[in-house]
Amino acid sequence: MEAEIIAMTADILHGDENTGGLVTSGGTESLVTAMLAYREWGRNTRGIARPQIIMPVTAHPAHSKAFHWFDIDTIIAPVDENQKVDLDFVRAHIGPNTVALVGTAGTYPHGVIDPIPELGRIALEHGLGLHVDGCLGGFILAWASDLGYDHTPFDLSVPGVTSISADTHKYGYALKGSSVLLFRPKELRREQYLLIDGWPGGAYASPGMGGSRSGGLISATWASMLSFGKSGYRSIAKDIFRTADEIRAAVVSHPELKLVGDSLWNIAFGSDELDIFHVNDGLADLGWRMNGLQLPPALHFCITRPNTQPGVTADFARDLARAVSYAQNPPNPRPRSGAMYGAGGAARPPREQLAKASADRLDAIHEVGPLT
Ligand SMILES: Cc1ncc(COP(=O)(O)O)c(C=O)c1O
Repeated sequence: MEAEIIAMTADILHGDENTGGLVTSGGTESLVTAMLAYREWGRNTRGIARPQIIMPVTAHPAHSKAFHWFDIDTIIAPVDENQKVDLDFVRAHIGPNTVALVGTAGTYPHGVIDPIPELGRIALEHGLGLHVDGCLGGFILAWASDLGYDHTPFDLSVPGVTSISADTHKYGYALKGSSVLLFRPKELRREQYLLIDGWPGGAYASPGMGGSRSGGLISATWASMLSFGKSGYRSIAKDIFRTADEIRAAVVSHPELKLVGDSLWNIAFGSDELDIFHVNDGLADLGWRMNGLQLPPALHFCITRPNTQPGVTADFARDLARAVSYAQNPPNPRPRSGAMYGAGGAARPPREQLAKASADRLDAIHEVGPLT
């Protein structure tokens, strides 16, 4: 089933006979595994003792987890006003230790696609790997051109792309706990295999980070892909892109608001006139839950299947107008919401308290109160 999940994903993302893959537990595992493969490739094939990877500031922090865990040097590239990676910066910072570049196809903050064809050209010119993080966007953007939406090419059809991740547990509609990581050439996958022949438990060979894994999740992912099929995925994508068009129209109907980026389905917006988090508070009071962003402050509405139901966009347009009025005369100068990833727009603690407050929150999530 895993082999078939990989083959179906490679087919959707234009892989060829030289494409191999892994099924992982999610986007984060796919990204850290890709980063480890590039570190090992740099060491084993290019003899670079301290491999270095260049990634845009908008790339998902799971890459940084890999840099932290696997002690990989990193250079963070800025983005331009459209939130896409600054190619001149990338070109100027490639050095003798650089082993790979990262680009995203559907960034988490703004849903934009980095200039993957240009990154591919740079990668080929310098003999580097190029990972495309399609965790969020892979399974939805795959249908956009078929549906008549123009976008930057991002998948394995682009020369120079050597790996791509796409999460079956996002727009593949599988249960949480599954993602696919594709490598081209497939030998790259071997860079992170672990082989220990002298272990008393037997010669050990493991293809990735997981040990024992859930056959239930793998079979549910396989079943999800087969039951939707390409036509099912395409038809949901059509509804999602149409809904996004309507949400975008609602946003631009307010001169106080401005779009950030040019996403087809993950609509980010901010404001030069209002505190956008007051707009978020107004929306929250009416039952909407946006994600808060920073640098620049903004919100995003990442459209998913439930949002495509009749009436949702009309309700949003009505409530957004109310939220803009609320933000024009907020009851308190300081908004309740802020930019905290994964916290549903919860308030962001002041910078000096952020590290402790975040660690306290993580502790609290994992502890019950005193037992009485
Ligand atoms: C672009 C992108 N990459 C990676 C991830 C990480 O995925 P996961 O939460 O499945 O680990 C996300 C999560 O939203 C994402 O948006």
